[in-house]
Amino acid sequence: MLKEKTIVVGVTGGIAAYKSAQLVSDLVKEGCDVHTVMTRNALNFINPITFETLTGHKCLTDTFDRNFQFNVEHVALSQRADAFLVAPATADLIGKASNGIADDMLSTMLLAANCPLIIAPAMNTYMYENSIVQENLQKLRRHGFIIVEPAVGRLACKDVGKGKLPDIPVLIESLRAVFEEKQDLSGIRLLVSAGPTIEAIDPVRYITNHSSGKMGYAIAEAAAKRGAEVCLVSGQVALDAPCGVERISIRSAEDMFNAISERLPDADILIMAAAVADYTPVVYADQKIKKKDGEMTIELKRTKDILKYAGENKKEGQIICGFSMETENLIENSRKKLLSKNCDIIAANSISESGAGFKTDTNRITLISKDRIRELSLMSKLEAADILLDEIASMRKK
Ligand code: CTP
Repeated sequence: MLKEKTIVVGVTGGIAAYKSAQLVSDLVKEGCDVHTVMTRNALNFINPITFETLTGHKCLTDTFDRNFQFNVEHVALSQRADAFLVAPATADLIGKASNGIADDMLSTMLLAANCPLIIAPAMNTYMYENSIVQENLQKLRRHGFIIVEPAVGRLACKDVGKGKLPDIPVLIESLRAVFEEKQDLSGIRLLVSAGPTIEAIDPVRYITNHSSGKMGYAIAEAAAKRGAEVCLVSGQVALDAPCGVERISIRSAEDMFNAISERLPDADILIMAAAVADYTPVVYADQKIKKKDGEMTIELKRTKDILKYAGENKKEGQIICGFSMETENLIENSRKKLLSKNCDIIAANSISESGAGFKTDTNRITLISKDRIRELSLMSKLEAADILLDEIASMRKK
């Protein structure tokens, strides 16, 4: 899978830089065309000749090196790369990358790259746990970087804690994962809902919510990539349908109920990631709104609970997943929903959590099933979608 891939390995000035030589050597053995780029501080830890001997290419260190052929080297190689891995990545490099600073060859190339970007931080535990470093890593995650968590152990400074560069096989696995196209959901029919519903008060006014649809779309995208046949029932959102996904666009909770109930008998999995409005205005034959003394009164009635309907009509072997938004007692309230709606799994969100919820690209969810609770860390919605699909796939096997 890694064979013939062009991999750029960035090396920054940390003691773990000596391990990068082994990483590069192993990648060359895997059949990769490896190019290396070092920061000036990395030169204090390891000699570029080591990398040049291992890769057969000049190790890039300086944007203003006049011995190069006249092409814009950082752009050319960054554009050609299939993946870019910085290992070890110091707090300094993480700080620069997360702020768009490009003041040397490595940080410039990172900014110019158009491929999966992987960062493997390695530093002293206190530095790693510093909230500024953590915020910078979160920012990188939001921008699509893959962060390989450092390992725990005895560090060069003799402190014991998180901050070690992970073992080389872990780093190589992180590269392999970006090229992997798992097809484990092939033949599975997934029905997924996303986005808000719009409940009309009259031809002009409506009630809706802040759902952006990003979580449901991430699930549809991840499942389609893994080979599932995906039907996405979507409220009005500003997102393109993911590649290979059939999209049914709806407006109201009633439309969503109709679209889902019609397709439910054929689905192997239903995931209700939509933010369905719980209430809709009562529509009178003559008038919808009661106006009195300049005040407007809107009478609301409950919408049909689509998830509950699906739970009541669940077929043998079908898996039903709901999402929950809770302000308090996340686990307890989600468990109640799991039982009352006869679902197999609930993906619970805490509404007060920063970086999680409606408009963000990241989410922190807790997966709750009858016999298991799995708390996920803050991650991109696409990563969270993949883990949710893993969990559902393992339930189907049982
Ligand atoms: N849901 C649904 N139909 C509705 C309302 C909600 O299918 N009319 C689904 C949502 O898509 C979600 C799950 O039910 O997957 C839970 O939604 P949530 O709003 O958290 O729960 P409610 O049952 O509406 O309860 P409450 O708002 O009181 O917490």
